[in-house]
Amino acid sequence: GEDALLVFMPSGRRGRFPLGTPVLQAARQLGVDIDSVCGGRGICGRCQVVVSEGEFAKLGVTSKGDHLSDFSAVEQRYGDKRGMKPGRRLSCQAHLLGDLVIDVPADSQVHKQVVRKRAEMRDITLDPVVRLYYVEVHEPDMHDPTGDLQRLEKALTEQWNLPKLDTDLRVIQGLQEALRKGGWKVTVAVHMGKQITAVWPGFHDKAYGLAVDIGSTTIAGHLCDLSTGEVVASSGLMNPQIRFGEDLMSRVSYVMMNPGGEQEMTKAVREALNDLCEAVAKEAKCTVRDILECTFVGNPIMHHLLLGINPIELGGAPFALATDGPTMFWATEIDLKVHPNARIYVLPCIAGHVGADTAGVILSETPHESDEMTLIVDVGTNAEIVLGDKNRLLAASSPTGPAFEGAQISCGQRAAPGAIERVRIDRNTLEPRFKVIGCDLWSDHPDFAKETDAIGVTGICGSGIIECLAEMFLAGVITQDGVIDGAMAATSPRIEADGRTFSYLLHDGSPQLKITQNDVRAIQLAKAALYAGARLLMDRMGIDRVDRITLAGAFGSHIDVKYAMVLGMIPDCDLAKVTSAGNAAGTGARIALLNRSARDEIARVVKQVEKVETAVEPKFQEHFVGAMALPHKTAPYPHLAK
Ligand code: FES
Repeated sequence: GEDALLVFMPSGRRGRFPLGTPVLQAARQLGVDIDSVCGGRGICGRCQVVVSEGEFAKLGVTSKGDHLSDFSAVEQRYGDKRGMKPGRRLSCQAHLLGDLVIDVPADSQVHKQVVRKRAEMRDITLDPVVRLYYVEVHEPDMHDPTGDLQRLEKALTEQWNLPKLDTDLRVIQGLQEALRKGGWKVTVAVHMGKQITAVWPGFHDKAYGLAVDIGSTTIAGHLCDLSTGEVVASSGLMNPQIRFGEDLMSRVSYVMMNPGGEQEMTKAVREALNDLCEAVAKEAKCTVRDILECTFVGNPIMHHLLLGINPIELGGAPFALATDGPTMFWATEIDLKVHPNARIYVLPCIAGHVGADTAGVILSETPHESDEMTLIVDVGTNAEIVLGDKNRLLAASSPTGPAFEGAQISCGQRAAPGAIERVRIDRNTLEPRFKVIGCDLWSDHPDFAKETDAIGVTGICGSGIIECLAEMFLAGVITQDGVIDGAMAATSPRIEADGRTFSYLLHDGSPQLKITQNDVRAIQLAKAALYAGARLLMDRMGIDRVDRITLAGAFGSHIDVKYAMVLGMIPDCDLAKVTSAGNAAGTGARIALLNRSARDEIARVVKQVEKVETAVEPKFQEHFVGAMALPHKTAPYPHLAK
């Protein structure tokens, strides 16, 4: 019989097919990536294609419609029910009548691009962890006694070419009801290409996944559509474990003082996670039962408490983790009220102080693929530091304490409306200008008072204190040794005697906000710890400069990188190569949610990371002392001079 040429874009794959061939079938033969849940039955609409206006049209192949069969009743029905954009066709229903160029839009591809990163980073394509397959199963027959599961497996092989899958008892328990309710038509969720995790009666195409970053202060989650990769809802809440202790060590102490206290904290975080699930499901207008997959990152203590593991071993040397591999289990095992057969994946921790959150950062920032020597710092209560390139990766944590988060600072507060986040100090008059979270105006704007009337000026947050100190240093208010210079009191009323030391009056209102000598000390100690940790890794790597610095975490995304360098928080580097990565740990959780191979990748990379224990390195103290000065006692900062 006659055949026709079919070209698929953007892949460019092409072949000749007999007239009348369904486009989807031709695509399958050519290995073209087109999605489908219903297996070509005209139900799911995932297989949509567009007849391209490409070269063939110009070469004189006439109008588009002539080359495809007309809308079938099935397509008509789909279009009436679910709506289809003009020019689109269901590739499983449209048959070839002549030469054609077919465009496969991104939303019809399984392996579409999902996490779009900054220019210098790779993009992430969807490689679904969970896929849905609609199948029609043979009814049981007295003369051919086989189990319902075996007939389902047979249907999956025949209709989808799937290999033999694992099926857990919990799935078998609900199988017969689903098959009968669906009239022998069911949709099956297959996890990692290996395991049946859910069976719904009839056609079902809702599958969501939740990626969560469990911080010691806040818990942030993104709900993603597992078939599109899109974030459909995001939510954050306070970690309720705060009532057991502000920071990590105080939570471990709580366990030491109160045997069984770890169970209370485990319960608290799991309850919060259930609240988070409810919140995102509500926002996405689905139910928590539509959540089929969850991924988690968190520091080692958060990790252990989530899993119901006593974190007491992490409270002291040698800081042994219960496991440094990724963990996978059922949602019910941690009391998550999502789909009862949902699977959980927790990224691996790296060392006793370097957690699954850092694994997430690595997955997101991919230093292990880079030619450039990259330093990544994730600043929280501890700074987690990664240094390396495609040849070698080192990781450590440094005890910065919570000063960078505004704690231990006399007028410090969390980043919230009313907190000062930007500061400029006039080099001559020493008068400050600042901005607070929740208001776009600088404080010297005539409308500032009116605009901030409701929120007030309440304190200074982590990024604000960094800027303020750096500006004080640049204006000569603070010496290289970090002393607020009393001699300046003669120049400006902003410098006030404060006992034996001096302080700088940042805001003369209510409350009055002052930067005291103790505040400067607290930041010096924190930044010296951060620098010393980074420097130690550089020593171990045998380098004295890095090509790139990435600041991860909420703090990193608010801070102005120039000021971080003015204070010497980070080593010298071309400022154009110092960037902030935002919540890279959370991005890593999202990548692990959407990309199967990323899970193998991170497990492999984490095994290769060399851990450096800062506490036992004698050089740490030496680096620390030098780093107390601003920006540093001896280390040169040529890039600051520019
Ligand atoms: Fe489902 Fe075409 S494959 S509608």
